[in-house]
Amino acid sequence: MTLVDRWMSTIRTRTVAFMAIIMAVAITAISCSSSGTTATTTPGIAPEMVVDYIHTVLEADRTAYTKHVVNRSKTLEGKSKEDGVLTIEATEGWQQADGIPLPAQMFRLGSEIANEAGFFTYNLISPWYINDSHAPKGEFEEVAIETMIETGEPVKDYQEIGGQSYFSAMYPDVAVAEACVSCHNTHPVHLERYPDKTFVMDEVMGGIVINIPLEGA
Ligand code: HEC
Repeated sequence: MTLVDRWMSTIRTRTVAFMAIIMAVAITAISCSSSGTTATTTPGIAPEMVVDYIHTVLEADRTAYTKHVVNRSKTLEGKSKEDGVLTIEATEGWQQADGIPLPAQMFRLGSEIANEAGFFTYNLISPWYINDSHAPKGEFEEVAIETMIETGEPVKDYQEIGGQSYFSAMYPDVAVAEACVSCHNTHPVHLERYPDKTFVMDEVMGGIVINIPLEGA
């Protein structure tokens, strides 16, 4: 072997070793980042569907509470119910009267606990609100409630509050029972604030709003 041959052979060996190191680093880099790559390519659930899921649960719980608890009570806001079997009263003043909350109050009590968890928020709102915390707030709610009352259809949109982006949805809350209409129409706060507003059956009385914060937005 000539001096030149030996010199070439050393370079080849070093090049192969160098290439091997590069390959090893590259493979490590790929395998380390593969979990990140998987996360971004895993199919997510569209926010439009997430709000539908949440709404289904909220509606189901409210209906179940109305049907299987409130409707079985012997008294609803001072009036006796013929089909009642439980010696309790469902009343707005449930805390003072040792009664049980009305469905809308039960819904609000649940939302106050859930909203504290900080994942997403939900609320019951209406332009004809009895409770001040149910007033439509912000541009999305003020615009969406008008559209929803007109069309009777849910409204979904993106909105920004204090630099944070949200996907928000509003679902109609309809007068499905005579009790909805009669209780609201004769409520002292309703009579004082909205003397010209008389709810009728199947009317949209308000809306359920759900806000999901969007990550990295
Ligand atoms: C016995 C009386 C009573 C009945 C029946 C009743 N509500 Fe209410 N509703 C109330 C009261 C009181 C509030 C305020 C509750 C609170 O303080 O959070 C309320 C709140 C609401 C709100 C939020 C806006 C507001 O007024 O504060 C909507 C929307 C609503 N009710 C719709 C309905 C629908 C729809 C039904 C029937 C499925 C119904 N209500 C049945 C008494 C009643």
